[in-house]
Amino acid sequence: MSDQAFVTLATNDLYGKGALVLGTSLRNHRTTRQLVVLVSPQVSNNMRAVLGKIFDEVILVNVLDSKDSAHLAMIKRPELGVTFTKLHCWALTHYSKCIFMDADTLVLCNIDELFEREELSAAPDPGWPDCFNTGVFVYRPSIETYNELLQFSTEKGSFDGGDQGLLNSFFSNWATADINKHLPFIYNLSSVAIYSYLPAFKQYGADAKVVHFLGNTKPWNYSYNPKTRCVTGDSHDYSLVTHPEFLNMWWDIFTTSVSPLLPVHGISNEQSSSGTQEPSCLAYALAFSCGLSFCRKEEKLSEAVSQLSFTPPPPAVSSEERRKKWEQGQADYMGEDSFQNIQKKLDAYLN
Ligand code: UDP
Ligand code: GLC
Ligand code: MN
Repeated sequence: MSDQAFVTLATNDLYGKGALVLGTSLRNHRTTRQLVVLVSPQVSNNMRAVLGKIFDEVILVNVLDSKDSAHLAMIKRPELGVTFTKLHCWALTHYSKCIFMDADTLVLCNIDELFEREELSAAPDPGWPDCFNTGVFVYRPSIETYNELLQFSTEKGSFDGGDQGLLNSFFSNWATADINKHLPFIYNLSSVAIYSYLPAFKQYGADAKVVHFLGNTKPWNYSYNPKTRCVTGDSHDYSLVTHPEFLNMWWDIFTTSVSPLLPVHGISNEQSSSGTQEPSCLAYALAFSCGLSFCRKEEKLSEAVSQLSFTPPPPAVSSEERRKKWEQGQADYMGEDSFQNIQKKLDAYLN
C-alpha cells in the first residue's frame, strides 16, 4: 500500500516528540501504510534524524500562519495560527489517499480500515458536533484542492484562527451531506468528551481506537516515573488525572521506544505554547471522579473506566447524592465542591 499514508505535522521539537509516539503507535499496531511527517525549518536536525527512523518520509515545509490573533484568542490558543501549515498535506500527490493525524494523537489499535473512507471524513468536534475535529481526517491529496485551500485561507480566513475553522468552512456540507464521512467518535476521542459526558465515556471509552490529547496541556508537559510507570506532576494540574491510563500509555511508548532513539542533548525543549491554563470546573469534576483510579496501569482500561470513584470532603448530603449532582453537572463549585476542597483532596491523595 505504498500509495496511501498516515501524515502528521511538527513545527517544533516538542510536537516532534508527539509525532514520534504517534508514529511508533502506528507501527506497533502494524499499519501497512506509509508514515509521513511534515516538519518546518524550526525542527532541529537531531529531531529530523530521529523522525527519519520511524517515518518513511520527513518532508520539510514552510510555516503557514494565519496570524489571526483575534480569532485565536477565542480558543485561548494564540500559538495555533501555525496549524495552517497542515494545508501542505494536500500537496503530497504521490499518495492517492491519506489520513492526517495531529501529533498529539495516539493510536490504540490498527486503524487501516479508515482508508476505505472518502474525503473529507472526520469525527465530530466535541465542542460543536456539527463541525468536524481536524485532529484526524481522511483526505485525497490534490494540487487543485491545495491551491483552492490556500486561496480560501487568504480570502476567507478561519473562524477559529486555526486549520479547523478553515477546513470546516471549506468542506461546509460535512454535517449534512453524507453520513459515511462522519467517523465514529472512537477514532478521535478527546479528553473534553469525558468531562462533558462521563456516562458515555464509561459506556464506550474502552472501545477507543485513537486518543487525542486535545487542549493546552500535552503529554510531554508532564513528568513520568518509569519505575511506577505513572505520570507525575504538579497537583494543580488536574488534567493529569482525567486520563491517567491514556497518558501513561503515551509515556510508556515514549520511554520504551522513543527516548532511546533521542540524543542526550540536542532536542529542543522550547515550546510555542502559551503554557498551562487554569483547568475548568468541569475538569476538576472529572479529576475528582477519576482521581482514585490513577496509577493503575496494569488494569484494563474498561475496568479502570468502570471504577470511577468519588470521595468528597465531609458532605452535607450523602456521597451518592453528591455524585449524582456532579454527574448531572450540578456541582457546588462555590461551596463543598470548590477548587480549594478538590485541591485538598487531591493533595492528600498524592501525598
Ligand atoms: N502543531 C505544530 N506546532 C504548533 C502547534 C500545532 O506542529 O506549535 C501541529 C501538531 O501536529 C498539532 C496540530 O498542529 O497536533 C494541532 O495543534 P494541537 O494539537 O496543539 O491543537 P489541539 O488539538 O490541542 O486543539
Ligand atoms: C482543534 C483541533 C486541532 C486544530 C485546532 C485549530 O482544536 O483539534 O487539530 O489545529 O482546532 O483549528
Ligand atoms: Mn491536537
